[in-house]
Amino acid sequence: MSINRRLFIKATTASAVAGPLLLNAQKVKTYKTAVIGTGWWAMNITREAVASGQCRIVGLCDVDQNQLAIARKKLSEMTSDDPKHYTDFRDMLKKEKPEIVIVATPDHWHALPTIAAIQSGADVYVEKPICHTINEGVAMVKAAREYERVVQVGTHRRVSPHNMAAIKFLKEGGAGTVGMIRTFVHYDGGPGKPTPDSDIPEGLDWDFWCGPAPYHPFNERMHPRGFRSFLDFANGQLGDWGIHWVDHILWWSEEKYPTSVHSIGARHIVQDNTDVPDTQIVTYEFEDFTATWEHRRYGGNDAEKHRLGIYFYGTKGIVHIGWHDGWTFYPTGRNAQIYHEEPQLHKPDDQNIQELWTNFLSCIKSRTKPICDIEIGHRSTNLSLLGMLSAKLGRSIKWDGEKNIIPDDPEANRLLKRDYRPPWIYPV
Ligand SMILES: NC(=O)c1ccc[n+]([C@@H]2O[C@H](COP(=O)([O-])OP(=O)(O)OC[C@H]3O[C@@H](n4cnc5c(N)ncnc54)[C@H](O)[C@@H]3O)[C@@H](O)[C@H]2O)c1
Repeated sequence: MSINRRLFIKATTASAVAGPLLLNAQKVKTYKTAVIGTGWWAMNITREAVASGQCRIVGLCDVDQNQLAIARKKLSEMTSDDPKHYTDFRDMLKKEKPEIVIVATPDHWHALPTIAAIQSGADVYVEKPICHTINEGVAMVKAAREYERVVQVGTHRRVSPHNMAAIKFLKEGGAGTVGMIRTFVHYDGGPGKPTPDSDIPEGLDWDFWCGPAPYHPFNERMHPRGFRSFLDFANGQLGDWGIHWVDHILWWSEEKYPTSVHSIGARHIVQDNTDVPDTQIVTYEFEDFTATWEHRRYGGNDAEKHRLGIYFYGTKGIVHIGWHDGWTFYPTGRNAQIYHEEPQLHKPDDQNIQELWTNFLSCIKSRTKPICDIEIGHRSTNLSLLGMLSAKLGRSIKWDGEKNIIPDDPEANRLLKRDYRPPWIYPV
């Protein structure tokens, strides 16, 4: 039983107005909800689904029984719902026929479960970045439109109060005309050391976990949560953290895509067995402004005050939007008053999924596009993936975001997709 339903029953038994309340309750639709990939972030989303009082968790699916056991325990602290457990998402979709599916697998496993869930008739909440290669995203948008499903992407900063306030301020011209934008994440770290491959833990179907990606021997750096730092499964810091911040570029500008992208990615410091850049700079060319992404996995950023976020440089001053540090306007002029707003985040992981889930449910009811619609998530994911693509090629690329092609560049276009490992088939 969900938290809200529990509270509701308490209220109805204790009160003389039980009759009318029950009538109201009967009107509340409860959605059969299933989760694919039951790791860390999935359970943050599931918590909000349960708390909404409008979702009954009917299925949990993970290729790792150990992860499933943890998820089951966490869920039992939230609700008395008793979902069935699965290792194959196709079985779960067929048997449970969920109305809502949460996809929170590693990035290389977003496209196929999302499309399968859409095709089974479910509305989907899929995590960012929406895919691992750009043409997967094209197929995901196509499926959402063809099957008229509501597909929300987990870029919850679009509903975070402090991010929204800062974007509103910028759109109203608070910082003047913006000519340059910097997005960045700099964390401390260092060389590290390689972790040797090891035996596959009991209960984990590692072959299924690798799925459409190339098979790698099991390494505890990869799972759980470590897939972010391996190029066959994800796209490093730019694909993981970066998409949240480059998403702000499109959100603020209402542009759909840059016309060209140039990136340098390198491993100067880190010496462990991950393979993503520890140092990366990307330049995105737009008609009216220039935007960059940069990250380091060493040497935080105390000298420059902020370790992560986005700076908008305007004629009237600079706006910084961050995470725990809220948003700040530094006006031009020596004695001008700095303006600052603190964030309003939810525990345990300091996020605003609750607001995004509320928007998702309301769009499911109205059959309208959600605030982080799949097409919006696709365009923002493209910024990350184009940055990685340019870094892999070691040169600039043009981009036609209407046709989703890199004009006159067969070598670069080949990287918009990749071969899937059989039996998995690349979605079209
Ligand atoms: N929006 C955000 O702020 C935010 C924050 C954190 C993570 N995320 C995203 O959430 C996703 C999951 O990240 P995480 O940190 O929770 O990772 P995780 O490793 O904790 O969880 C992923 C789970 O998926 C399972 N899995 C792998 N392949 C599967 C398959 N084919 N079917 C079913 N289960 C499968 C894994 O066994 C694992 O339990 C990532 O895409 C990540 O980018 C988003």
